[in-house]
Amino acid sequence: MSRLLKNLVRRKSATALLTDFREDGHVAGTDLLRTLRLKDLVAFGIAAIIGAGIFSTIGNASAAGGPGVSLLFIFTAIACGFSALCYAQFASTVPVAGSAYTYAYTSFGELVAWIIGWDLLMEYAIGNIAVAISWSDYFTAVLNGIGLAIPEYLTMDYLSASRGYVHALELIAQGHVLSALPGNLQSAYLAWQAAPTLGGVKLIADIPALGITVLITYLVYIGIKESKRTANLLVLLKLIVIFIVISVGAFYVSPANWTPFAPNGISGIMKGVSAVFFAYIGFDAISTTAEECENPQRDLPRAMIYALILCTVLYVVLALILTGMVPYNELAVGDPLTYVFSRVNQDAIAGIVAVSAIVAMASVLLVFQYGQPRIWMTMSRDGLLPAVFSRIHPKHRTPSFATIVTGCVVAIPALFMNLTEVTDLTSIGTLFAFVLVCGGILVQEQHLEVPTSQKAFKVPYINGKFILPLLIIAGLVLLILYNGTTGIAHFFSIEDGSATGWDVFKHKIPLMGFILVIVVMTVLTFTRNLSLIPVLGLLTNLYLMTELGITNWSRFLIWLVLGLVIYFSYGYKNSKLATTKEAAVSGK
Ligand code: ALA
Repeated sequence: MSRLLKNLVRRKSATALLTDFREDGHVAGTDLLRTLRLKDLVAFGIAAIIGAGIFSTIGNASAAGGPGVSLLFIFTAIACGFSALCYAQFASTVPVAGSAYTYAYTSFGELVAWIIGWDLLMEYAIGNIAVAISWSDYFTAVLNGIGLAIPEYLTMDYLSASRGYVHALELIAQGHVLSALPGNLQSAYLAWQAAPTLGGVKLIADIPALGITVLITYLVYIGIKESKRTANLLVLLKLIVIFIVISVGAFYVSPANWTPFAPNGISGIMKGVSAVFFAYIGFDAISTTAEECENPQRDLPRAMIYALILCTVLYVVLALILTGMVPYNELAVGDPLTYVFSRVNQDAIAGIVAVSAIVAMASVLLVFQYGQPRIWMTMSRDGLLPAVFSRIHPKHRTPSFATIVTGCVVAIPALFMNLTEVTDLTSIGTLFAFVLVCGGILVQEQHLEVPTSQKAFKVPYINGKFILPLLIIAGLVLLILYNGTTGIAHFFSIEDGSATGWDVFKHKIPLMGFILVIVVMTVLTFTRNLSLIPVLGLLTNLYLMTELGITNWSRFLIWLVLGLVIYFSYGYKNSKLATTKEAAVSGK
């Protein structure tokens, strides 16, 4: 192997990490406080998971898929569950901050670890931009409700305003009245018209999104104790309100709204992948607290699984309640939970839900603003980022510089960016991280010595040798039964309506890549008796990625290339593994 290649796969030793961890209760070079227990971790997970996804993006997903979107919640939860088990194994064998990044460093080596660390930036920071934007929407609605209106041009992004304005103009030209247009178009129209202009550019920005990000960053900066208390309180409030929504909403469900269950078929349901997956993002953030847990080996796996199960039950019930209360096609709104209660003339409940959404999304922001600096801190300790990223505040004991940088990285784009685009990017980036974590477990089990002296959690081993091929055959049979042979022939055709050639083919590339991966994984599973759960985790998450469309794939690849440029200009040369004898204990 050439030197370059060897360096790219140099690995941190899980055993060495663990030894450091066990000797003094901390990983060398850090001094974070160990205060988090199981209930704090579960609360932390719920704080991260339930947020903009269930309060906002579920609306469009339900409008496209109908009540059948509840099945997508179950499928996505299963895919997340496989990944959670893999995360849990890594988090309990390598209990240090850094999440999937650290796990990848011990299994795939440095290059993939860097890619995943870079990719987690997409999950945490870009995800938080999406949450800050949604938070601002609900916040503005509540202010409007109590008669405190902020000018529209100070509460939305430039792109939404300009696109919405053009769309509204078209509709007005067709004879529609502005006051009868959907609320988002009215806001965009008013924002564009009222915005002041500087040098020919309209000054339009989302000021509440900036404000909440600054506030949350401050909480995270001043320390885990304050942040933990705040998170626990926010979670409790959020759960109470969700129970109110479910129990009151149940009285307004009309079962007739559940028929047809999947009005736009499977393709309609699958349009909601990005939104539904976004709603689950967050359970993995629990693993970033590994250095601040009292008992990471025992509590991290449990917390992830508990949080995931609880949220799945709530989501499926909520999806059924929403689509049972009103016809599914009315749900294409940014505030569906409030909307359904307004529709049944329960304005008081609608108000409570709107306020709770503000609280819920603030708690999501808190968790990700907390997690991101800790990933940077770990990467900096490894030499892949400058040392200043691992500087710990002498009084607050938090990674101070990295926290401030995270605040800027989220707050500034939140002023300008568009919700759908950031949601899609977050989902594709996070799915990729999940795929790599599942793959990491397979690599670890096949090639690496994992410390066995501790009571670490292990993904239950089920030999996939025969089960995986059988599942693939069953899937194929179902596909043929559902689509018929014309559906399959359509997949191989390069004509679709008026589009032909590359314009059609490019949209099929992700799915073709997925089919190739299925073939390779089936052969490997058969020949090497691979563990079924990580294999299914890898395949299900990759499948969800294929549903996100070529545009998102292209943006994601550009993001990765940018990351590689940074790695080769800095991390490759400054990596601790390049400069210390630790390299000697790295990969085989
Ligand atoms: N799951 C988180 C949310 O829905 C990211 O806001």
